[in-house]
Amino acid sequence: MAHSAVEEIVRIASPVTYMRRTALCDTELEGVKIDEGDQVVMHYLCANRDETVFDDPLAFDVLRDPNSHVGYGGPGPHYCLGAHLARREIKVMFRELFSRIGDIHATGEPELLSSAFIHGIKHLPAEFTPTGPGRS
Ligand code: HEM
Repeated sequence: MAHSAVEEIVRIASPVTYMRRTALCDTELEGVKIDEGDQVVMHYLCANRDETVFDDPLAFDVLRDPNSHVGYGGPGPHYCLGAHLARREIKVMFRELFSRIGDIHATGEPELLSSAFIHGIKHLPAEFTPTGPGRS
């Protein structure tokens, strides 16, 4: 389940919200004509909620399978170089967090980062029972 949960976290969060590219040649995408030199913006957050791709796209389903999200970019030469590292970091971070303070839970609404490019959380109030050496 850890694997599917890590993918679903990135799909629903879509930490990188968009990327802009310049078309290198004339082309057509889903019936839309794109000319060489046009600037094209990909909104990963929208693509990751595409109801033609995902069943119940607004639901956070840690067992979602298949999960062909584009949170790390689409296939191609610019696919995120750090995708494997990011997956491992998310998995290890949650594993260590829950093994130490398993009852941690949010107690309020997240305060979002002021950024058009990164969809991130700056502060999230939480409560947990302190554990560890000297505590029981
Ligand atoms: C959850 C964490 C991360 C997310 C959601 C993410 C997402 C993305 C996205 C959407 C792109 C653009 C892909 C495209 O244009 O098709 C990208 C590119 C890139 N990412 Fe990440 N990334 C993450 C973590 C990392 C980490 C940890 C590293 C490095 C240690 C990294 C390094 C890069 C690099 C170097 C590129 C540019 C690749 C290129 O243009 O050839 N990323 N990432």
